[in-house]
Amino acid sequence: MLTKHMVLISPATDESLDRAAHILRAGGLVAFPTETVYGLGANACDGLAVAKIFAAKQRPSFNPLIIHGDDVAMLSKYAVFDERALMLAAHFWPGPLSMILPLKHDSGISDLVTAGLDTIAVRVPAEKIARDLIARVGLPIAAPSANPSGQLSPTAAHHVAQGLGEAVDIILAGGMAKVGLESTVVDLTTNHPVILRPGAITAQEIEVVLGCTVTYDHQNTTAPKSPGQLLRHYAPQKKLRLRAVDIESDECLLAFGALRFMAQRDGGAAKDFAPDRIKNLSETGDLYEAASHLFSYLRELDATTYHRIAVMDIPNHGIGIAINDRLMRAAASHSS
Ligand code: TXA
Ligand code: MG
Repeated sequence: MLTKHMVLISPATDESLDRAAHILRAGGLVAFPTETVYGLGANACDGLAVAKIFAAKQRPSFNPLIIHGDDVAMLSKYAVFDERALMLAAHFWPGPLSMILPLKHDSGISDLVTAGLDTIAVRVPAEKIARDLIARVGLPIAAPSANPSGQLSPTAAHHVAQGLGEAVDIILAGGMAKVGLESTVVDLTTNHPVILRPGAITAQEIEVVLGCTVTYDHQNTTAPKSPGQLLRHYAPQKKLRLRAVDIESDECLLAFGALRFMAQRDGGAAKDFAPDRIKNLSETGDLYEAASHLFSYLRELDATTYHRIAVMDIPNHGIGIAINDRLMRAAASHSS
């Protein structure tokens, strides 16, 4: 039996990993770092444990979860890998790619994981701590991002503690998540692969491997294939104003690249702002660096006294497509 206790943040050591594996086998919840964001894990074959994930996050039960495994061999017990899936796995795993594949029935996966769909999302994470944990447990781990549903995803252990607190039995700490955005979700259950959630791995990169066209469908809000495509998502408390070319007096700034031409509307250059008023995702204009800072900088700006967050334009290519997807959803959450 697990007893309730203050949430425990523990650096990943042999001891804490053993303990976390024990908690997972006993039906508890473990938050752990992946290269994308921190996940909230439960044994994917234990319906009661998976139900705790939905309760802790207040996640709608129609929104299915990704299962995390060691390798294709482990995940093929639960999902049907066709030739395309095998090629993508060989090329991108371990790494920030989740594939939607046909579910193998009666494989033992809880129905809550798939929300009753006949497909399942699978991924092999690259982060060593995640891999060590999965190897110790020897079971698929269902793990959404470790944040209350609809809020910013966690890229550090203390973000998890802030958002979920005592609902988690242990938080394994492993520094800042390296990618900083959730995995690319590609649907392979159709003739042409479709990206339901953009991430670090782009449509173009997948096209190169498969030799066929791959399209984005993450802005489909009328008939979303992925229930997680709900428009309201990744929401900070403050309003966001996108593609800002100047700053209003009650705003702080999420910057990208050079600040030369950025100024307050009624006078004063951005470069002279108080340090808490401006966060630059990447001074050199590096989109990967920007992605890794996005959620933590939004959190920091959200905690200031300014009323709104102005966001500079982010180029819409490569991982910039994923950054703009998250920003669009964060901004949309206030307009309705
Ligand atoms: O990077 C990540 O993927 C992180 C880390 C922890 O691995 N996990 C994550 O999980 O972002 P979550 O639950 O926050 O997002 C999973 C997304 C949701 O948009 C969900 O709707 C979609 O994947 N999804 C899961 N299973 C699906 C399915 N069978 N069909 C369509 N979409 C699915
Ligand atoms: Mg999430």
